[in-house]
Amino acid sequence: MNSAEFLFVVCQRGAESALKNELAVSWPEFRLAFSRPGFVTFKLPPDHGLSPDFDLRSVFARSYGFSLGRLVGAHAETMAEQLWELAGHRAWDHLHVWQRDPAVPGDRDFEPGISTLAQQVGLIVAASRPPSVAPQRVFPVNLVARPGQQVLDCVLVEPGQWWIGGHQASTMPSRWPGGTPKIDMPDEAVSRAYLKITEALLWSRLPVAAGDHCVELGSSPGGACQALLDRGLIVTGIDPADMSPVVLQHPNFTHIKARGADLKRREFRRVKWLVADANVAPNHTLDTVEHIVTHRQVDIQGILLTLKLIDWHLADQIPEYLQRIRSWGYPLVRARQLAFNRQEFTVVALRRRPRPSNVRFATRRRSR
Ligand SMILES: C[S@@+](CC[C@H](N)C(=O)[O-])C[C@H]1O[C@@H](n2cnc3c(N)ncnc32)[C@H](O)[C@@H]1O
Repeated sequence: MNSAEFLFVVCQRGAESALKNELAVSWPEFRLAFSRPGFVTFKLPPDHGLSPDFDLRSVFARSYGFSLGRLVGAHAETMAEQLWELAGHRAWDHLHVWQRDPAVPGDRDFEPGISTLAQQVGLIVAASRPPSVAPQRVFPVNLVARPGQQVLDCVLVEPGQWWIGGHQASTMPSRWPGGTPKIDMPDEAVSRAYLKITEALLWSRLPVAAGDHCVELGSSPGGACQALLDRGLIVTGIDPADMSPVVLQHPNFTHIKARGADLKRREFRRVKWLVADANVAPNHTLDTVEHIVTHRQVDIQGILLTLKLIDWHLADQIPEYLQRIRSWGYPLVRARQLAFNRQEFTVVALRRRPRPSNVRFATRRRSR
């Protein structure tokens, strides 16, 4: 039986209100307890019966787990000992330690991931574990967990303030430390969209394969196209703005200098995957994509959309956006604010379930 009283949720800095509004609808029995930019806790109802790997079904939660308590102190070694007093009664397979985001991803050179400080704290905590807790000779710190493994979470919320929790790994993001995949951006990447599309492909497990045709609407300067070309795809970028010369010279790349809505739909006849990252309002992107994918000569199998929250209040419309996408004949739809997203979120939509697959898709809007 899971007797946890609080849930901790980590999100993008600035996304707290969107997260709280979302959970107020889907989990009205949760009570807001503590909130800092990028870190929120909720008091759970008694006898909540939530399993250690329960699905929060949240767009804005980057990672979450059951809280074991908060530690305040000045010395990492002392706090590590206190951590094991909170967590030492259980067996753990992994330790994930990360810092609350100090900025919005992409601002002030910040990108999500494991900071040097977080890794150092992780090593101190792992070194001070009691032998009974994690008997492995090397206790994994900030590595990707396997489904079913028990993860001890330590979020560095402030200097000298750690929140401790735990969860059972299941979905892809729940296996990554802090819900963030480790992605190295190559020196030649022309924009941070390289990070976004790489995370989107890892999260969505869109079954793209070398030789597939892919179109990106809103492709300039070309970081996402580079990541797709690196995977061997044949890529067409559609954007009225210029592409980077590095991308233009790739033999598998074609640039159509136009807006998405200006194209003849038969241009999309051989296209298997559609990616959109245009900096316009969500309904504008959805109008353009709908016009393409509902044409009878077009058979696009999967869509990866970045929808821009030009106003945070648009987050309330997400269920309608997803329902609209389903209505085009894409019953398998999921949405997530990726770690590398900015004030935006990502949607993956598929016509058919890929095989083999253990990816959870919501095929209709759930009501509770
Ligand atoms: C965030 S940037 C795209 C970044 C790009 N995905 C990359 O990998 O570097 C947004 C782009 O959307 C383009 N855009 C805006 N409206 C568009 C439309 N209707 N059709 C195509 N592109 C559009 C803009 O010109 C701009 O280059």
